[in-house]
Parts: sequence; structure tokens; C-alpha cells
Amino acid sequence: MKIRTLIFIICCTLIVSIKASNDKRYDAIHSGTPWFDQNNREVNAHGACIVKEGNKYYLFGEYKSDTANVFTGFSCYSSTDLMNWKFERIVLPVQTTGLMGPNRVGERVKVMKCPITGEFVMYMHSDNLLYKDPNIAYATCKTINGVYQFVGPLLFEGKPIHKWDMGTFQDTDGKGYLLIHHGFIYELSGDYKSVKRLVINQKQGGEAPAIFKSKGIYYWLSSNLSSWEKNDNMYLTATSLEGPWTFRANFAPEGSLTWNSQTTFVLPVANKKDTVWMFMGDRWSFPRQGSAATYVWQPVRIDTGKVFLPDYLENWTLDVSTATFQETRLDVKSVFGSITAQKSNWVAENHQLKSNEKDASLTFTFIGTKVGVKALTNNKGGYARITIFEGKKKIVLTAVVDLYSKNEAHSQVFVSPTLEKGSYMLKVEALGEHPAWTDKSKTIYGSTDNFVVLEDVYVFK
Ligand code: GAL
Repeated sequence: MKIRTLIFIICCTLIVSIKASNDKRYDAIHSGTPWFDQNNREVNAHGACIVKEGNKYYLFGEYKSDTANVFTGFSCYSSTDLMNWKFERIVLPVQTTGLMGPNRVGERVKVMKCPITGEFVMYMHSDNLLYKDPNIAYATCKTINGVYQFVGPLLFEGKPIHKWDMGTFQDTDGKGYLLIHHGFIYELSGDYKSVKRLVINQKQGGEAPAIFKSKGIYYWLSSNLSSWEKNDNMYLTATSLEGPWTFRANFAPEGSLTWNSQTTFVLPVANKKDTVWMFMGDRWSFPRQGSAATYVWQPVRIDTGKVFLPDYLENWTLDVSTATFQETRLDVKSVFGSITAQKSNWVAENHQLKSNEKDASLTFTFIGTKVGVKALTNNKGGYARITIFEGKKKIVLTAVVDLYSKNEAHSQVFVSPTLEKGSYMLKVEALGEHPAWTDKSKTIYGSTDNFVVLEDVYVFK
């Protein structure tokens, strides 16, 4: 190869990688909206946790599908700012056979780095499709974002742990703990690959357990039992993991259903002086969990022994270097007025455009870099597809948003990443479908209609 060609290739590679590393497409955490990775695909990491390694945060979660509640792998994304997520890989693919093989459920993946071995250990809830064969299993990897080697069930006194919802907690002394629904805390062995002892069975605290520690107080957060439906999650406190644990209260306002989410993890973001704890919750969306389930991440307020999520920050930033957070006021211009009812199957009333008819669609063209959509969500809400076209034909990205919520809310349901300045078309289509499901006891949950009720469309200035 000629030297000039080689220099040209090196320069191009440098330009491409500089562009990629400067690719700051989000400048806020937009809870309750689908997020897009570097390939404009939804960030698909549910029941997640975050691990910091070097100057990066790694998000691990369930890589959900839209068609069946079956294990389709655990994903890993990385970020330096908790807002822009790069897809790394499927870190645990479906195994050929066994606990994480075909036709199994795989949930609540959690990863910790063992301080003694330096290995990364991944824990998970494995089950059969009827949730009748629960097991806590583990996998390991030498690198945080490599493909993990599945080992098998995590053993306690030589026996598997037949439990379901789980979490993990790493204390400041490096000891690792496994948390299990309804208040079990197990201490892990030094290599994190088995259970050393049962620390406590509190006989309280529900599903989706997460623990964090602040100023010598341990906080146990967990949910009530309502399958994929949201409920008012609660917390307990103790000054030692061994207890006694005291039941406190809900940590979000009563009736907010934990701002429409279920606990999965609490991430401490710290510098030498300060710490912000970030609550991470799932807003499940059955059956379209892969595309329409979203994340509710909020700063936890702590006041000597009390934790609270007093308000819902739809858009906020967490500065990871100063360990401070701030609500973001969006600088947007509403363009909703210019979207008239374009088809007879949309009704315009009360500053809303609504339809429950399959394929009813609206389009809007704009010049800019970023667009957002606000909608009414309630127990008659359905699914809507949102597509952004460059010009009028080339698809830039597509998302499905879930407009069902048990409590009525007026929410931002979509925010695009920052796109290159240009001319775009936004299309919203009613899918004529809605979230609905039953749990083990055949209780019916979800929406009863397919409504898409738009309340605003705005372009970012
Ligand atoms: C929830 C649990 C989820 C999932 C779901 C299935 O209660 O927290 O992880 O198992 O039930 O219905």
C-alpha cells in the first residue's frame, strides 16, 4: 500500500472515531421514553443494573423481545455520562441447553466485580416459561463487556437456590451479597461464586429487591407483587445488613405507583465529596417489552433514614464528575397547532388529537435536530408507532410507545436523539393494539382500548 493511501486511511479512521466519541446525542435523562443507542436502536436492557469500571458505566439488562416472554439474552451498553448509551454486545446469549437454554425465562441480571479474583460475576433469575422452576444462576467473565461463560446454579450448602426476583449489593468492604424477594440476604463467598451464609430472612419486603447504603444506613427497596403492573414500592432500613430491618413507607408519593415503575437497582454516583443515588426502575410494557418498555431513572432524596422520590423529573441531568443533578427545562417550540386532523379517523378536541383505529396516522415535517411528543396515558391507552424520516422517505429511526397507564397522566412519551440539522418528517401511527396480560393466578391486567391521544409535538430550539 502506498504511504499516501495509508495516511489517508489513518486520517479517515481518526475522523470517524473522533466523530463517534463526540457523538453526544442526549443531554438529559428522559425517563419514560425509548432511548436510542449509537445505531438508533432502542436501548434494550430491562431489570437492569449499572457497574462502573474505569471511567465508564456499563448497563446490563434483559434483552427483551416483542413477541414472547422468553430469554433472548442479556445485553450490555456503555456510557461515560449515563445519557448516551453505546451497545456493546449480548453478553449472555441463549445457551444451547440448560437453565439459560431455549424456552426459558431469564430476568434481573446483575453483575459485580469480585475484588479478590478481579473477575466479573453475573447473577440471574432463571425459570421455565410458567415460572415454576425458579433458580438463581451465575456466569463469569474476565472482562466486563465480554461474552460471559455460563456456569450453572449458584449453590448454598451445596444446593441450588430455588427463588425468583433477585438483586445484588456490594458493600464498601468489598463483600458481595445476593438479595432475594421477601427479604432474604445471602453473603457470597470470597470469589463470589457460591453463597457463604444466610445473613437474614427478614420475612418482609416484596419483589424486585435493591439495597444501597448511605451514611451507615442500609436501605432495602422493593415492590409489591403485581406482575408487570406498577405498584407503590416501599423501603426498609437497618444499620446492619443483619438487621433488625424496619419497615418505613412508600418511597414515592402514594398512588404514583412509584412514578409508574418497578425497582431494579440503585446506582451511587460519587466523587470524593458528594454522592447522588440514582433510582432505576422499569416501566414494563407487555407484550411489547423489547420496544415499548422504558426506564424510570430518578435522583433519590435522602434525609437521615428517609428516602423519597418526591417529584417526577421527566428530563434531568446527573453530572458524574460533580455528583450533582439538575432538572432540565426543555427549550422547545410547540408545533402541535399546525398538525390538524389529517384523516377522518382522528378526532380533534380539548387540545388533543385522538384515535383508536388501527393504522390511523399523522405526519408532520420539521427542520431542526430534535423532536418530542406528549400524550395522554390511561387505562384505555394503546400502542403507537413513531417514525422519523429524513426528508420524507428515509427512515432514521422507529419506536413503539406505550400509552397505557393505570393512573391517568400527561407525559412526554417520546424524545428523539439529537439528529444532524436537517429536514425531517415525524409520523405517528395508532397500532390498534394495547398492553394486556395475565399473571400466574389468571388476574387480567392492562388496557381495555387502543387509544392514542396526542397532546403536544415540539421541536427543540
Ligand atoms: C414481576 C417480577 C418481574 C417478572 C414479572 C413476571 O413481579 O418483578 O421480574 O418476573 O413479575 O410477571
